[in-house]
Amino acid sequence: MVVKRIPGTKDNLPDEVSCWQKIEEISRNIFSIYNYKEIRPPLIEEAVLFNRSLGQSCDIVKKQMFLIKSQKHLYALRPEGTASIVRAYIENNLDKTSSFIKLYYIGPMFRLERPQKGRLRQFHHLGCEAIGSQDAFLDVEVISLADKLLKGLSINDYKIKINSLGCAKDKKELTEILRKCLQNKLSKLCADCRTRFRHNILRILDCKNPACIEAVKKLDIQDKHLCAECKTHFSKVKEGLDSLEINYEITPSLVRGLDYYTRTVFEIVHPELGSQDALGAGGRYDTLVRDLGGPQVGAIGFALGMERLLLVARRTSQVARPNNLVYIITLDEEAKRQGLKLLDNLRKSGITADTDYEGKAIKGAMRRANDLGAKCVLIIGEDELKKNVVTLKNMVSGIQEEIKQEDLIANLELNTIGQ
Ligand code: HAM
Repeated sequence: MVVKRIPGTKDNLPDEVSCWQKIEEISRNIFSIYNYKEIRPPLIEEAVLFNRSLGQSCDIVKKQMFLIKSQKHLYALRPEGTASIVRAYIENNLDKTSSFIKLYYIGPMFRLERPQKGRLRQFHHLGCEAIGSQDAFLDVEVISLADKLLKGLSINDYKIKINSLGCAKDKKELTEILRKCLQNKLSKLCADCRTRFRHNILRILDCKNPACIEAVKKLDIQDKHLCAECKTHFSKVKEGLDSLEINYEITPSLVRGLDYYTRTVFEIVHPELGSQDALGAGGRYDTLVRDLGGPQVGAIGFALGMERLLLVARRTSQVARPNNLVYIITLDEEAKRQGLKLLDNLRKSGITADTDYEGKAIKGAMRRANDLGAKCVLIIGEDELKKNVVTLKNMVSGIQEEIKQEDLIANLELNTIGQ
């Protein structure tokens, strides 16, 4: 029996990998412009790290973690990056070396979900965490960074939704308001929300069921739960976003599923994604570092889902990696010997080059060069050897000419660059 991949995982074949590399390259450049440094925590952590950070009642902890039992430990494949990065921040005393730190990460996450378009069991996050400040303008920087990344990847038509949950006290206040208002409306809510009423009442606010949306709309929550300080903080965030001309939509029903969020939360949605419409999301988590045993410092971050970025970026030319391949075709044994040396010389000059190892006749070898998307083909046969030249065929223009060996590199650079 042929062993198949696990549903909700993907084989990223070479053509796709080149798009991934392009996304990573563009993103790394933008992160670096914002002065974020890369961090690479392990993919596996103690499960308790996520139970304590994300909260026992969130879907990820309740039913989506890939758990691995060893004799004394319960490990989990990381379902997200924030908790790992905060753990790494505390464990490596990063607060002592620099009280404020900006980190970014790119890598796989694992959630045992029911797979569908844009929802995988192994997916990838492109994210960042800025730890050590409660400054509202840091929220603005982080949201503007997400916006720059999307623009850098030539993704348009997305919407940034923002909200403020307030501090821990305000979140309790919001819980109380909801409990009071929804007590008599339970029969109007969906079955999931009736359970949420007991264990995770905030999630009722972003339930997608039309009856629940209607019930929540009538409550007109707005910012009733926010204390004066949190109101000022949120006003500054909005003011900063306005001054940078970043479009956003205030969405009082945006609560996010994870327990650690406080104050600013945001989500970026794209209409082409269908039911799983979030390209990315993030927010503040001003109590998480302390809750995990570190100092009391504010922090904020976000993660974009790379597979979803690819779904909307695929059609843009930005992510298609240019192919500057030069393909050598040799027509006899002596030409093959020359071809071996030429291949080595081209590669030493930094030119991407390859040749036929399958003994194809010229027609088949040309077809192969075409399939590989080669920019130029170099043909060496008896004639070329006699004249000490190679025949260069530009695969884009179709022009074919004989080039002296000593002029070859300069010619290839002209033929491959800028096309
Ligand atoms: P999240 O909303 O759970 O947030 O995930 C962020 C993004 O990852 C989502 O908006 C979506 O694009 C993508 N994503 C999530 N689950 C899947 C899946 N099963 N398949 C494909 N893509 C998926 C977080 O994880 C937070 N750690 C973000 C954050 C960073 N908050 C503060 N700092």
